[in-house]
Amino acid sequence: MKKIQASITGVHGYVPDDILSNADLEKMVDTNDEWIRSRTGVSERRILKGKGLGTSHLGTKAVEGLLQKTNTNPSEVDLLICATVTGDYQFPATANLICGNLDIINTPSFDIGAACSGFLYALSVGKQFIEAGTYRKVVIVGADKMSSITDYTDRSTCILFGDAAGAVLLEASKDDCGIKDVLLRSDGRGFKHLHLKAGGSAYPASIETVSNQEHYLYQEGKAVFKVAVRSMADISREIMDKHGLTGEDIAWLVPHQANKRIIDATARRMDLDPNKVMLNIHKYGNTTAATIPLCLWEWENQLNKYDNIILAAFGGGFTWGSAYIQWAYDGGNLIA
Ligand code: ACO
Repeated sequence: MKKIQASITGVHGYVPDDILSNADLEKMVDTNDEWIRSRTGVSERRILKGKGLGTSHLGTKAVEGLLQKTNTNPSEVDLLICATVTGDYQFPATANLICGNLDIINTPSFDIGAACSGFLYALSVGKQFIEAGTYRKVVIVGADKMSSITDYTDRSTCILFGDAAGAVLLEASKDDCGIKDVLLRSDGRGFKHLHLKAGGSAYPASIETVSNQEHYLYQEGKAVFKVAVRSMADISREIMDKHGLTGEDIAWLVPHQANKRIIDATARRMDLDPNKVMLNIHKYGNTTAATIPLCLWEWENQLNKYDNIILAAFGGGFTWGSAYIQWAYDGGNLIA
């Protein structure tokens, strides 16, 4: 019997309306538009405002749109996985909340925490369930409200992050297209360079943790940058070499949008024409688990069946990974 192969059969995204521009940040911290754009590539980001609105709000919007455009009834969803590091609550999982909001009932759902690589980790888990024949329709959503853990007095991090969600539907492939391979890595020694210290079981929230500003993301930018450049470039090259692909064979690189300089280095290592790189960091900044599906959503109408696509990410943990996908449908045929 022919082996089942999982493929992405639909994609949707959501960004909140409120824009935080570099000009706005110039009024908040000692920075300037030129520095931010040249060092990171970011011009503006979206911020989710509204009391009580968390990451599940972003994820719900993205999944709702995905179900509509793929004519999927909530009762047909067999599994929903949410990749996030900014869950609404310590528990329940944000995936449970998204399911509750959309009447996806009696369906298994859980979160995956692998920071900026979260979408790739979740994709690989969903892929296994489809390929084992356990489930027919799996929703993977990457969603993060990074503004909830960003210190807007720290100029080295507040310039980077934004809020968004992106979701994909996974189903068994009807032909040879699909998710061909996913490579995943982690190195827990990266903890000291990139983490959120308080609020978990090691340092539960207290007056002390709040006054020490330990509920915000902490990043040693330069140290993370060095590892990110090397890891994302190496693992993208590795998956190409493993499958005998050259830069010519690749239609698109879909990189995690952390810093344009990291993305450029990855494209160079892949011998890739820069025009084949999906880039929306200037509009949204780093939206952690959402960046990759958000790019797929924005470029969907330019994607063609059988396009060879490489996804690549690096993030907190450290975690990193890449995926090789042969796209399953002509996005240009979709009615907007
Ligand atoms: N405006 C102006 N100057 C600034 C700013 C700013 N916003 N931020 C820092 N600077 C200054 C620094 O103070 C420093 O000044 P000094 O030389 O007088 O000390 C100078 O600029 C250079 O600082 P660096 O930190 O060396 O700047 P760098 O070029 O490394 O850029 C950045 C910083 C953008 C954070 C970069 O290091 C980076 O992108 N790191 C990797 C991010 C990443 O990939 N994270 C992983 C994913 S995130 C996740 O998983 C949640």
